[in-house]
Amino acid sequence: MALEQLNIHHIRNLRSVSLRDIGRINVCFGENGSGKTSILEAIHLLGMARSFRGTSAKTLITHGENDCVVQGAVRAKSGARVTLGVQRRLDGEVTLRVQGQSVRAVSQLVDQLPLQVVNAESFALLTGTPAARRQYLNWGVFHVEHRFFPEWQRFQRCIKQRNSGLRRDKLGDREITAWTRELAQSGQQLNLFRQAYFSELAPRFRAILDRLLPHLGELELRLRQGWDRRLTYEEALEATLASDREKGFTQVGPQRADLKVMIDGRAAEDVLSRGQQKLVVCGLKLAQGQLMQETAARQCTYLVDDLPSELDAQHCQRVCEELDALGAQVFITCVEQGSLANRWSGKADLAMFHVEHGEVGAQ
Ligand SMILES: Nc1ncnc2c1ncn2[C@@H]1O[C@H](COP(=O)(O)OP(=O)(O)O)[C@@H](O)[C@H]1O
Ligand SMILES: [Mg+2]
Repeated sequence: MALEQLNIHHIRNLRSVSLRDIGRINVCFGENGSGKTSILEAIHLLGMARSFRGTSAKTLITHGENDCVVQGAVRAKSGARVTLGVQRRLDGEVTLRVQGQSVRAVSQLVDQLPLQVVNAESFALLTGTPAARRQYLNWGVFHVEHRFFPEWQRFQRCIKQRNSGLRRDKLGDREITAWTRELAQSGQQLNLFRQAYFSELAPRFRAILDRLLPHLGELELRLRQGWDRRLTYEEALEATLASDREKGFTQVGPQRADLKVMIDGRAAEDVLSRGQQKLVVCGLKLAQGQLMQETAARQCTYLVDDLPSELDAQHCQRVCEELDALGAQVFITCVEQGSLANRWSGKADLAMFHVEHGEVGAQ
């Protein structure tokens, strides 16, 4: 899976930009404010129907315009070429196209162009709320386990029903028991999918971090399932039922799961420098890409914004080596051309794009 062609209209300062001769490794360089991040944003829009900088179309669309459009062509592993298109309008309307046909579900884009992003917001994986880490975890499980998404939908339905029953104190014991039983089954199953995924992810993450930060100390990735692990989910729900009734919502379960990175028994976010945090975040994203490649035979496209910032030359080099070894397509930005151009091995299929005042020239 790789993006072969990209046309951008009216995204921030990019009025009309086409990227041709896209390679496997694509470096976009240019001064501050030239439009580098906006290029990554456009690719994100193509794969996810939204930006990674907030959800508002108003800030994304070039000032004074009514809509923005991104079109692209993706080469699937089978060799088939698939065209994608996303239009967003000021009035909120979103149009998605696959092979020229209008589609409704964002998952149809996600399927064609699975993306991994490393940018300033990615630090949330360590320092943000558990929701950011659950999203990361769910993304991974979704791409390797096709039974995950319907189960997740079932779980959402059950917990909504149970919570509304608890809240309004309307449901009798019989109904609560029925919803609890179904929730217990679904939650248990979701957790099994997550655990299976996690047991594959953790060793890959550790191996990558051993190369990126070899002297870091004892590194451990932990999965907190969202309830006491000595209990089944059903037992945990039973144990908290009285208190759930009081509070009016379900307190334990996969909706409370979390991932923790520990170093020598301490939370990574409490001990690591900003640069080290960035490497840990890169490790998490690289591990997901590697796992998806190995278990689902699919490649992610990486969007890495301003890789050199916060990293010294040696660590920046190591991240480039990991991305190169993964064989995934990468779009990566930097200010100075030289800071990344020389970091790829001779065999990398490298394209350089100079971004200047919202225009892009190939080098
Ligand atoms: N909605 C918009 N319309 C027009 N220009 C915008 C809009 N939003 C941001 N910009 C401008 O787009 C430029 C490119 O931003 P960005 O892609 O973040 O730059 P870079 O990543 O190269 O530093 C900035 O100069 C910014 O002021
Ligand atoms: Mg930028």
